[in-house]
Amino acid sequence: MGCASSDEPEAGRSSAPSAVPRDARVLVAYFSRAGENYHYGGRRVLEVGNTEVLVGLIRDRIACDVYRIEAAEPYSEDYDDTVARNVREQDADARPAIANPLPDIAHYDVVLLGSGLWNVRPPMIMRTFAEDLDFTGKTVLPVVTYAVSGIGGAPDEYTEACPGATIGDGLAVRGEEVRDAGVAVTSWLRRVDLR
Ligand SMILES: Cc1cc2nc3c(=O)[nH]c(=O)nc-3n(C[C@H](O)[C@H](O)[C@H](O)COP(=O)(O)O)c2cc1C
Repeated sequence: MGCASSDEPEAGRSSAPSAVPRDARVLVAYFSRAGENYHYGGRRVLEVGNTEVLVGLIRDRIACDVYRIEAAEPYSEDYDDTVARNVREQDADARPAIANPLPDIAHYDVVLLGSGLWNVRPPMIMRTFAEDLDFTGKTVLPVVTYAVSGIGGAPDEYTEACPGATIGDGLAVRGEEVRDAGVAVTSWLRRVDLR
């Protein structure tokens, strides 16, 4: 699955030099879609998107600013319609427009880019966001919720979309289990030197 999250204790981990400065200024930028979604092979209507729940666990644990990416043309609450739109957008290498003004990321050291995985990649709107900003010199940490694909293509996607950034270890949490991910989130935050 390639899942980067873990409940394992930290003892014994090798300690590579960290790209994250002490007292790093952190932005969490995420896209999350409520509505009908995949759920253990079936479907369930989510009041709050899985990635938004995960971002809540992160913001409870570290000092950070949070920016929610809103689609100018909102995605359907219908799962199949969203799957079909995403296939069209991936095939066209589209950059779906963002409705809200982009944040100024100049003063952040670390940017967490959060989303679900759509057809094994972050939704194309994450590409819009990443390519519209200058990540030079920053650390980018992929944060993903998924059904089966683990972290999928997120690290490669952000490597391509954020030239000049260091892409650090990502966090991947299964969407259906996101509300129980507190231990994994804490462990990952320690691993990437944010806690
Ligand atoms: C259009 C669409 C495509 C998806 N494709 C995948 C996929 O390829 N692999 C996977 O593991 N999960 C896939 N999922 C499941 C989502 O990644 C998962 O439910 C995620 O937690 C959704 O995040 P969100 O609720 O924050 O939007 C897909 C969901 C949708 C709506």
